[in-house]
Amino acid sequence: MSAVLPQQAPSSAAAQAALAARPLQPFDVLDQCHQQVVTMLHRMDDLVAHLQETGHDQQAQQMAREIFDFFMGPAREHHLDEEKHVFPAIIRSGDDELVRHMLRLQQDHGWIEQDWLELAPHFESIAAGYNWFNIDLMAQAIPVFQALYRDHIALEESLIYPEAKARIARWDLQGMGREMAQRRRSENPKN
Ligand SMILES: [Fe+2]
Ligand SMILES: [Fe+2]
Repeated sequence: MSAVLPQQAPSSAAAQAALAARPLQPFDVLDQCHQQVVTMLHRMDDLVAHLQETGHDQQAQQMAREIFDFFMGPAREHHLDEEKHVFPAIIRSGDDELVRHMLRLQQDHGWIEQDWLELAPHFESIAAGYNWFNIDLMAQAIPVFQALYRDHIALEESLIYPEAKARIARWDLQGMGREMAQRRRSENPKN
């Protein structure tokens, strides 16, 4: 199992050591992606501050490229992971309360995508060195996007992930890991 899932960079030496000590599991990948989302949401603030204080330079372009690439790629893959593996485990629970929360999360994925599609051209423009981004609009829309995403992650980590984990059998977890790895390889053959 450890070899099938591409690792994303751990945030600290301690986290790196902990990951090296045991095989990477599918829920580790999901947790790592949440950490990356949090980092990228912060980076949006850094980028807006940089544009306001320093202007549209090479550093701004790099920051915008990193944010754009992350939300176009790994963040969307993460939502697919949840919709293919985590949410179905909640549906199978037959617990109405859990299913209600899961349906909210599923709806959030739609809102997150819609909000991102409105923001994406601005990041793309900055990354490409063009000036057709709107900093005022970004400064208004980014906090809404951040709040939606942070609430979403909080509900997943506090309730839905633990409940799904408790319901996904070990052999199903292996299948989940294989599907996640295969999908990433087929969409990005360089991995
Ligand atoms: Fe989600
Ligand atoms: Fe998530």
